[in-house]
Amino acid sequence: MRIAIYPGSFDPVTRGHLDIMKRSLNLFDSLIVVVMQNNKKTPMFTAEERVELIKQSVVEAGIPTEHLKVVSNAGLLADFAKENGSSIIVKGLRAISDFESEFQMAAANQKLSPQLDSVFIMTRAKYMYLSSSIVREVSYFGGDISSFVTSVVETAVKEHYRRQHGE
Ligand code: PNS
Repeated sequence: MRIAIYPGSFDPVTRGHLDIMKRSLNLFDSLIVVVMQNNKKTPMFTAEERVELIKQSVVEAGIPTEHLKVVSNAGLLADFAKENGSSIIVKGLRAISDFESEFQMAAANQKLSPQLDSVFIMTRAKYMYLSSSIVREVSYFGGDISSFVTSVVETAVKEHYRRQHGE
């Protein structure tokens, strides 16, 4: 059984993330999507909300769920992988700008857990520009995010800003 782990902030999950999940399921026997803490970022949604949005988005996107698990974890990725019997980390890679930090994280994870390997899946060209921060920014200024995210995420993001602007 090749269990792969797909970690990220997923704040919120985008169509680009969903595409990486779908393709990872073609490459590995099972996939654990894990919402982790990035201490460089202050999240818009709680970890529980992000897990729920991923679960609902996966269904909306028609991705098979038999071999897919979605959880959250507040610790180190290397420890999480070990606890879950996995030695494969999957990450999506967009432009050159992603490379440096991903390279650094992959090296740190391997230092912490030498059997751990990071596998990078090239983002499809149509999602090259897409990120959770673009989704948040476009929505903040009232733009249309329906091509970036599923409808459940679109509703949740709009609701978040509606409340914030209403306060
Ligand atoms: O989607 P992101 O924000 O680029 O994902 C980064 C994330 C959450 C995967 C990374 O920050 C992470 O693994 N956080 C958990 C703590 C950890 O193990 N850090 C890596 C060792 S440097």
